[in-house]
Amino acid sequence: MGTKFKALVSRYIDGIQVIKNIEIKDISELPQNDTLIKVEYSSLNYKDTLSANGHKGITRNYPHTPGIDAAGVIVETKGNKFKSGDRVIVTGYDLGMNTSGGFAEYIRVPEDWIVPLPDDISTKEAMIYGTAGFTASTAIYEFQKHGISAGSGKVLVTGATGGVGTLAIAMLAKLGYQVVASTGKAELSDYLKKLGASEIIHRDEVNDQTGKPLLAKKWIASLDNVGGNTLATILRSTIEYGIVCNCGMVEGTVLNTNIFPFILRGVRLVGIASAETPMKRRLEIWNKIFNEYRLEKYNFNIKEVSLEELPTEIDLMAKGQQVGRILVKIC
Ligand SMILES: NC(=O)c1ccc[n+]([C@@H]2O[C@H](COP(=O)([O-])OP(=O)(O)OC[C@H]3O[C@@H](n4cnc5c(N)ncnc54)[C@H](OP(=O)(O)O)[C@@H]3O)[C@@H](O)[C@H]2O)c1
Repeated sequence: MGTKFKALVSRYIDGIQVIKNIEIKDISELPQNDTLIKVEYSSLNYKDTLSANGHKGITRNYPHTPGIDAAGVIVETKGNKFKSGDRVIVTGYDLGMNTSGGFAEYIRVPEDWIVPLPDDISTKEAMIYGTAGFTASTAIYEFQKHGISAGSGKVLVTGATGGVGTLAIAMLAKLGYQVVASTGKAELSDYLKKLGASEIIHRDEVNDQTGKPLLAKKWIASLDNVGGNTLATILRSTIEYGIVCNCGMVEGTVLNTNIFPFILRGVRLVGIASAETPMKRRLEIWNKIFNEYRLEKYNFNIKEVSLEELPTEIDLMAKGQQVGRILVKIC
């Protein structure tokens, strides 16, 4: 028996219903990885709602502590890349999926998953970005790599008021891109304009029902958070040699498309799998976040909650009712 700590635990009752409660765990229950981290901040991402609510495609075994993001301080390490006292971030890999996650006072992870935090970035600021910011930044990184710069044309962001959407709009606007925000929440148009979107459209406008093989050319680049028919519509509305980055699936996981966007317009479809990002590329993208893409101000919703308040926030996100970022203050 060792140190006790608080964690959010999801567990199945009678094999059907999942409950989420704060429980006291023993440090010996953490996986036997090389590096123990005391978590200061985590953040809530859509994938956490799936894991926390018992989605066996994300998390095989319950009881389980979700949380794909964590920022904190190394307590002890058997590895040789870091030392105790180092301030660090862990996002993705298996954290919060089948490895006990960041909605807890401690995590124990392999050192190969760890990204060092620069001195001028607090653990709180790092988690304002978290996986959402890393994902948005990966899309921007791909746009830049493919030669799409500010002034190239309109850039579409779907699922605009969500975590990834919010950060994508703010960072793209900071970099001078002309951003069009697609949302189901028309009442938040002013909020999205303040974030930096130059145009707001309803999500129905990027959900074509005509079935035409190609549509009017509108976007030079897109970050699609929703998938399904929206992604199929965007592909058919993309300008020659434009790029579509897809990361999400809140609308659907099936893509019904034809080949014309690819063979007549040279459209590029790029998948984003932030959790699996190799370390070299991961460090490059975090470096962009903390320098070139770093926001001067955070003029969007940031709700800071405790572990105890988290179950309610998870349920709101699962229903698509969150706006902006949910930060979790652990200790
Ligand atoms: N592949 C990766 O590496 C990666 C990384 C991070 C996130 N993701 C995925 O990206 C998506 C967004 O993540 P997030 O953390 O930003 O989630 P989030 O905060 O819940 O945002 C999702 C947004 O999508 C919109 N939306 C919700 N239900 C919808 C529906 N039925 N049809 C169309 N739009 C809908 C809503 O925005 P509006 O009301 O403004 O339309 C909502 O705020 C999720 O699917 C998540 O799993 C993937």
